[in-house]
Amino acid sequence: MARHAHVAGRAAYDALVAGASADYTGYWARIARKFVEWKTPFTQVLDESDAPFFRWFADGTLNVSHNCLDRQVAAGRGDKVAIVFEADDGQVSRVTYSELLARTCRAANALKAQGVKKGDRVVIYMPMSIEGVVAMQACARIGAVHAVVFGGFSAQALRDRIIDTEAVLVVTADQQLRGGRALPLKAMVDEALALGGCQAVRTVLVYRRTGGEIDWVDGRDAWLHEATEREPDTCEPEWVDAEHPLFLLYTSGSTGKPKGVQHSSGGYLVQAAVTTQWTFDLHDDDVFWCTADIGWVTGHTYIAYGPLAVGATQVVFEGIPTYPDAARFWRMIEAHRVSVFYTAPTAIRSLIKAAEGRGDLHPARFDLHSLRVLGSVGEPINPAAWEWYHAHVGGGRCPIVDTWWQTETGAQMLTPLPGATTLVPGSCTLPFPGIDAAIVDEAGHELPNGQSGLLVIRKPWPSMIRTIWKDKARYASSYFPPELGGAYLAGDGAMRDVDTGYFTIGGRIDDVLNVSGHRMGTMEIESALVACTELVAEAAVVGRPDDTTGEAICAFVVLKQERPTGEAAARLAAELRQWIGREIGPIAKPKEIRFADNLPKTRSGKILRRLLRSVAKGEAITQDVSTLENPAILDQLAEAH
Ligand code: PRX
Repeated sequence: MARHAHVAGRAAYDALVAGASADYTGYWARIARKFVEWKTPFTQVLDESDAPFFRWFADGTLNVSHNCLDRQVAAGRGDKVAIVFEADDGQVSRVTYSELLARTCRAANALKAQGVKKGDRVVIYMPMSIEGVVAMQACARIGAVHAVVFGGFSAQALRDRIIDTEAVLVVTADQQLRGGRALPLKAMVDEALALGGCQAVRTVLVYRRTGGEIDWVDGRDAWLHEATEREPDTCEPEWVDAEHPLFLLYTSGSTGKPKGVQHSSGGYLVQAAVTTQWTFDLHDDDVFWCTADIGWVTGHTYIAYGPLAVGATQVVFEGIPTYPDAARFWRMIEAHRVSVFYTAPTAIRSLIKAAEGRGDLHPARFDLHSLRVLGSVGEPINPAAWEWYHAHVGGGRCPIVDTWWQTETGAQMLTPLPGATTLVPGSCTLPFPGIDAAIVDEAGHELPNGQSGLLVIRKPWPSMIRTIWKDKARYASSYFPPELGGAYLAGDGAMRDVDTGYFTIGGRIDDVLNVSGHRMGTMEIESALVACTELVAEAAVVGRPDDTTGEAICAFVVLKQERPTGEAAARLAAELRQWIGREIGPIAKPKEIRFADNLPKTRSGKILRRLLRSVAKGEAITQDVSTLENPAILDQLAEAH
């Protein structure tokens, strides 16, 4: 593999790293010229004058959709399949680069016809579909800023994002199909808008996915197919500055309010493209499949942008890994001759369980010889899952790229490169060439290998977050705390190996949980719980390790009524889970809810979450509890299990 790889062997990797360290901006400028076509070439690479608000390639202009589509057609890929779409029910459709360009232009024209202008925000609340990707590309084409909201978020969460972005238009579908079930999307948009505060929204464009019953608001709602049919299939791209925002994507932080992470056009595309090509060692004949949803950053960078920016053929999948059964992924890899497969540890762990239970679901039953490279993303992959993935999916011959990155980083940051990096299960190994990662203590001093500390990125990188939408102060204080001397604080604990210098990620150091690879803030769930003012007096949420989902949400709740037990407790817990489903979405429903008369607090009233974490894990409390106002509450909490 090393001979044909884009980064051909460890020496080639070392040379790139040396090149970047000798001339950081020169290195990124070379990459930026190679991977992106600029309308106006940039003369400035990195502008640090307003740190931590960094600007990359600032005087260059480009259009992201032109790079992903027109440029591929011009390079002779017009008839190449861009997307192989497999629907929930197994139906397959294909779209070539020429067709994807035409559909994007029609959609872009339709957005313009609805009055959407450069810089306007468009919320996209769509199922996994070609139309979803087209909607994103169409925004990019006209310089509108999309904010994709994952279809699993509730009407309330959707409304918060519509309000925060002041979106002028929402693109949605009548329903989405997942695991054989039709779930409402348009009805959620109706509900979100009915909740009020979304007065900027003029139009709701509706993709007819199932033809299911929906309500219709005349003058506001329009069918996507009708709006696009009448439009021409060409649309001159809007040339934007490199720093023009491409999208906002909301993610959880350590407060109750999700952050609108703002990404750029130029720097983002540069790093999306180079990481797609090098990390997956993608070649023109590869078939790439990233199983993420476009509602998360992985679906942005490694579905909607990266693969198209390098002219790849990719699979886009509407459904879920366990429908009609837990062999769906293996069957699809076989059917579409997938050569590069990128998924999350949580999916692997659940498929391992299924395959152990039923032999016919085992990947060994399928012809997976087309696979060449496997990827993992979103959470730490435990060595046992890594070994299984390597042996049974990759047939022992495919390297696994364990890629560490975040919504904020925009693209992969720490990762092996196939053929260049010797792999160690459970380690995301080394920085992508041009990324300056380190482990430091709380005062910002670099720690020796073998000691765990805070993961930081010391130099700005092209696809980094530009700001938190409408909250520059929160951006600066969350990611660039003064004691770290200008380094970016990732929010993860990590350690480097004594001998190899390889990085291993320990997990979040803040109040952010990772449940099935979905990022959830404990404060967000607490706020949702206490918003149930009729029932809940107080709530605290912590994570505990879970074999399948990585972490599980555990909520401790003090009710306004007497502490329920038995049946009554089960009934109230179900009611509260429903409530959270409505406030945030099903992904935020706690696995466990325990009721108590109080929470463990210090005399000054501070809830001691570390004790709750021990209780949730079922550990004996070994910490000093002398500062507790009410130590007896710990026994009650442990009993409540
Ligand atoms: O804790 C890290 C974990 O996921 C967090 C970022 O979540 P999100 O912004 O939703 O982006 C996920 C997809 C890029 C990180 O702070 N994480 C992500 N990848 C890995 C990981 N933890 C360990 N290993 C990884 N490969």
